[in-house]
Amino acid sequence: MTTSTLPHFCCLLLLLLPLLPTVSSYTEEDCNIRVDKPLVARQNSNPITSRLEEFAFGFHPLESEKENQFLLAVWFYKTKDPTIVWSANGNKPAPENSELRLSSNNEFVLYDDEGKELWKPPRKGSKSICATIRDNGNLVILDEQYKSIWESFKEPTDTILPGQILSTNTRLRSRESETNYSKGRFQLSFQIDGNFVLYSLSMPSEALQKAYFATGTRN
Ligand SMILES: *[C@@H]1O[C@H](CO)[C@@H](O)[C@H](O)[C@H]1NC(C)=O
Repeated sequence: MTTSTLPHFCCLLLLLLPLLPTVSSYTEEDCNIRVDKPLVARQNSNPITSRLEEFAFGFHPLESEKENQFLLAVWFYKTKDPTIVWSANGNKPAPENSELRLSSNNEFVLYDDEGKELWKPPRKGSKSICATIRDNGNLVILDEQYKSIWESFKEPTDTILPGQILSTNTRLRSRESETNYSKGRFQLSFQIDGNFVLYSLSMPSEALQKAYFATGTRN
């Protein structure tokens, strides 16, 4: 590089700097969710809250006529009616005494009261050490270097929060009803081809029906 192009190069670098992906790193202090002792589904148990108590994470009781059932969920903590924004097990409500704990190979796993697996986040080989619930509502699982290995923001259920980015190959799915978090009849897909499509589904087969809205933004 000649000295005359150097100033231009530096300007370009400064202009591009904000566009570089921000690497969010966490520290041990961020670990507000540790499950060395399991987190147990019980009525009136205290949830874990984000630093400024904007969001809570834990077992949220479901309004149902059946026996006590719980969702492992993230919800708005300060609102009068706690609104759930993400849940792990909408299709498989957890009975009382279900547990979230670290499995023998260091994965976060939700087990029911008989030890059957109800949910676990996909992960890529690393050991989970703890998790953190953030004030933007993101639930992040961290590895031994306190790096993110899984985030609820990348696997939304039926809600997108401010600051959350819906990437291609991601979908939102409506729920069965206001109080039933089983998968419902509508799906909003940001497809790999770049098209953003609202489908209805046949239930219970979940076969996609004809799209009735699409942005047509392929590529
Ligand atoms: C929720 O809806 C699903 C699908 O219709 C149904 O199988 C399930 O029993 C319902 N759950 C409750 C608690 O009513």
